[in-house]
Amino acid sequence: MATPEEPLLVPHPDGERLQKVMARMGVGSRRLNENLIAEERVKVNGQTAVLGARVRPGVDEIEVDGIVLSSMPGITTYLLNKPKGVITTASDPQGRPTVLEIVPDEPRVFPVGRLDQDTEGLLLLSNDGELAHRLTHPSFGVEKEYLVHVRGEPSRSALRTLREGVELEDGMTLPAQAATLGANTIRLTIHEGRNRQVRRMCETIGHPVLRLVRTRIGPIADTRLKPGEWREISTQELLELQRAVEPR
Ligand code: URA
Repeated sequence: MATPEEPLLVPHPDGERLQKVMARMGVGSRRLNENLIAEERVKVNGQTAVLGARVRPGVDEIEVDGIVLSSMPGITTYLLNKPKGVITTASDPQGRPTVLEIVPDEPRVFPVGRLDQDTEGLLLLSNDGELAHRLTHPSFGVEKEYLVHVRGEPSRSALRTLREGVELEDGMTLPAQAATLGANTIRLTIHEGRNRQVRRMCETIGHPVLRLVRTRIGPIADTRLKPGEWREISTQELLELQRAVEPR
């Protein structure tokens, strides 16, 4: 592992040449980029890069003259705190408000997975189809954390059932994390995203959901974003998300 003082020679032998990745990201020709590297104006993951460095596109953070390059030009990803009552589909024949009406029309993005109409909390919207696929496909196992207010007080054995697996009509749920935060409140973290999964899990253990809020998607959380508010995710968050969905 290189220390911050050491030049970054070959950080990822299986990566691509830094000057080539920079060219693709619109910095300049490969030749110009080689000069920038030689002049020590380029950093990778915070360390000064030298000629010959290899990087993983979309994973390693590249900086030129202190400016972090957007790891994917043309890619836009928003984080929305979905309010209750808003639906996640692109359009609704019944005229109910949709999440797409909250974020800008251009560039066109689409919801990454879905939250029920009555569910509140964090939802990503993106035009990055590959990221969306990886975030929602159970084989990548990205954690989704929920704050769940339920009817009644779940017993320790009910919580154990949530953790170990609940028999639903479409099969057993995968192991989850469940902890009580108050008599009627659970923090539940699942790694899959079946239709109405949390509601069905809680219903099955005899504690129907009264209020459901998603509080985290993999590394992405934001307690300051109010219902109805959205923001673009930062480069740092995008890199963290991409790390979270790297094949294991
Ligand atoms: N589980 C549910 O039951 N509903 C959601 O909206 C998300 C997860």
